[in-house]
Formats: sequence, C-alpha cells, structure tokens
Amino acid sequence: MLQRRTVASAATRPKLPPTAPRAYFCPRQLPSNQSPAASAMASHDFRSDTVTTPTAEMLAALAQALSHGDDVYHESHATNSFQAFIADLFQKPAALFVASGTMGNQLSLKSLEPRGPYSIICDKRAHVYAWEANGVGLLSSAMLTPVFPENGIHLTLEDIKRGIVLEDIHTAPTKIISLENTLNGTILPIEDLIEISKLAKDHGIKVHLDGARLWNASVASKVSLSEYAKHVDTISVCFSKGLGAPYGSVILGDEETIKMARWYRKAIGGGVRQSGLLAAAARAAYDNIFPTLQRTHEITLALSNYIADLGYELLLPVQTNMILLRYPDFNEIDKEAKKAGIKLGNGRIVMHHQISEDAIDKLKNVLRRCARGGHKGFGGNSAIEIQRTSRIDSVGSGYGSLKRQ
Ligand SMILES: Cc1ncc(COP(=O)(O)O)c(C=O)c1O
Repeated sequence: MLQRRTVASAATRPKLPPTAPRAYFCPRQLPSNQSPAASAMASHDFRSDTVTTPTAEMLAALAQALSHGDDVYHESHATNSFQAFIADLFQKPAALFVASGTMGNQLSLKSLEPRGPYSIICDKRAHVYAWEANGVGLLSSAMLTPVFPENGIHLTLEDIKRGIVLEDIHTAPTKIISLENTLNGTILPIEDLIEISKLAKDHGIKVHLDGARLWNASVASKVSLSEYAKHVDTISVCFSKGLGAPYGSVILGDEETIKMARWYRKAIGGGVRQSGLLAAAARAAYDNIFPTLQRTHEITLALSNYIADLGYELLLPVQTNMILLRYPDFNEIDKEAKKAGIKLGNGRIVMHHQISEDAIDKLKNVLRRCARGGHKGFGGNSAIEIQRTSRIDSVGSGYGSLKRQ
C-alpha cells in the first residue's frame, strides 16, 4: 500500500476554490487565488511535467522577493543567494541561473571550450541532439556523435568506447561526453557514470550532464546530487520540469567555466536583469516540490503496473515519473482522452505533483476502454527496436509529430 504523504496540517493549508479538483499529491500546492480552470488544466495534463502551474509557495516567494538588483552587474541579492545555495547543494564551485534547460545545456557545452575541430558524443535520444534545434552546431560549431545504448536504456562505458573518436587528422576528435539523467524517465546508474568519467579523464575529455531531471534520478536512486556532480565538469538542472517552477535552470561547474557561461549568456540575450523574483520562485520550487518526488514516483509505478496489466506495451522500465508506452491506436485514445477531459501525448505519460486522483481515474477508464491486450510489462527487444527510432529519424512521419518538452 502506498502511504499518503502529509505535507501540511489542515490549519496551515490554503483553502482551495470549491470547484478545483483535488490534487493527488499535495493539496496545498494549488494556490487559493488560482482560477479553477488553470488548476484543472494542470491536474488533468499528462503530456509533461512542464505543464504545471505555480504553487501558492512559489507565488508567495515571488511576492516577497527583493526585486531590486541588476543581475548583469552581479547585484541581484536573491539571484546570488540562490546560485550560492545550489552550488553548495551540488558541491560545485560556481553556479549560474539561466532561462531554460536548452540554454543551460548549450552554454555549458560552449563554455567547456575545447580547441580545434571536435565532436561531442551523446545518446541518440538525448535532448542536446534531438530536441535543441541544432544549438550545438549553431553555438559551438561542434559535431554531435549520437550513439544508441546497447542495453536500450542507458549509456555504458562500452557504448562510449564504441562511439568515441580519438585523434586522427580525418576526424573531429571527441572532446566532450554529454550525458543525460534521467533520460525518458530512466536513470543513468552512478556506476556507469563513474566508469565513463574515468575514461574521459584518461583521454582529456570533458563531461557534461544534462540533469534537467536529476532531481528525480537522485530521489529514485538515493544517490545524492553532489555525488552525481562529483564526476562531471558541468551540469545543467531545471527548476521548471519536475519541480514545477515558472522559470529557470542552473548550470554548475568550476569558476572559469561558469565565468565563460555568463559571458555567452549575455551574448545571446540571456542576461535577465531583474531575475531575483524568478530565482526566488525556483528556490521555493526546490524547497516544496523536491520532497514530493518520491510520492510522484510511487504513483507512476502503480499506474504503470495497471497499464501493463491491461496489455499495453511499456517501452522502458518505469523508474521515476514517466511511462513510455506504445498505444495500438493513439488517435482513438486521444479522442477518448479529450472526451474525458484529460490531455495525453503520444508515447509517454508524465506524472507531476499536480495530477489529480480524478485525472488518474479518467486515464485508467480511457485506457481500459481502448485496451487490446497482448503485452505484459517492459517489452524487451521489440521495445529496444522502437527506442532506436529517434525523432530525428522520424520527422515527417506520424511518429515524428510526437512532442517532447
Ligand atoms: C532532458 C531535458 N533536457 C533539457 C531540456 C530543455 O529544457 P527547456 O525546455 O527548459 O529548454 C528538456 C526539456 O524538457 C529535457 O527534457
């Protein structure tokens, strides 16, 4: 039996508007002044964990933050103290608040600054390869070498050895390994990260970690954020995904790299002067939502078992807040979902702290009605075959219209 987490006493909880749906995880997170329509949208939306609405705590933090201080002059107290807090949490020398996960990844990769022609190796399904509008080509003039993990789930040392390019006049040698944790909701185990990082050191290669959802990986694996951080040169973490902040990511690294990142951030117009309010909301997201992730993962797992029992094919093991699955006929399911008042994306179900019990019941009903039977649980080899198809391969096809955020 899953235990319901109690996060606030009834007395301290803000009152919900009478028509707002009950949030499944932490009822206090729906602000009392929020329109029922906005709450309902977030609580019935399974497309991503980016669809949430700011919580009462985040709005209070925004209201209370000192808004003065220009961050381009390093004078925003709220931003400086947020960056110092996050640097301490990850045990990295320096941190920089940036607009988005894409900006965080791209500034990190650019600021690692290898010389000469070079390439960056990454998972073929990685965000930096498949979903960042060729930011690497545009900003770093580097070649991306995508590799698909042999185990179909996460990269290992062997995958990296297979894909790495060492020095040869004909090549763009690998100078950066870019990893992602979590990727499609699955965890890159710390043991694999350590092995890859050792190989990188032996060859003078830098390691970047896209940790947009490292929060989820850390909670699920019980490996601390700083332990992950110890083995990489730069990390980018998002506050606007699983933590539900209205804005922002942070990149971490040594002083020199982060100094360069600040420079490049300015060059691309990312120096937000009055960023203090946004930093305060991101801090509130960490303080209030991070402790709820375990609960989100438990509910995701319980839902995935239900879905597998209906015979849907799960494409990856369910380890955090995502269920990757194949719908026999997504158009049919989407139609039913719309009728039921829930939002679904093709190929994945993403859970977050504002999903309501009502939405989960509706989703179960839709999936039960549309079930065809057949598969049980994680689909092994056929799932791996499907995972080999990245969005890049499938642009223009029906599958290519799948949206990932
Ligand atoms: C793993 C990962 N990295 C980076 C990003 C980019 O984040 P943003 O949409 O804030 O640019 C995303 C977006 O969902 C992501 O899933």
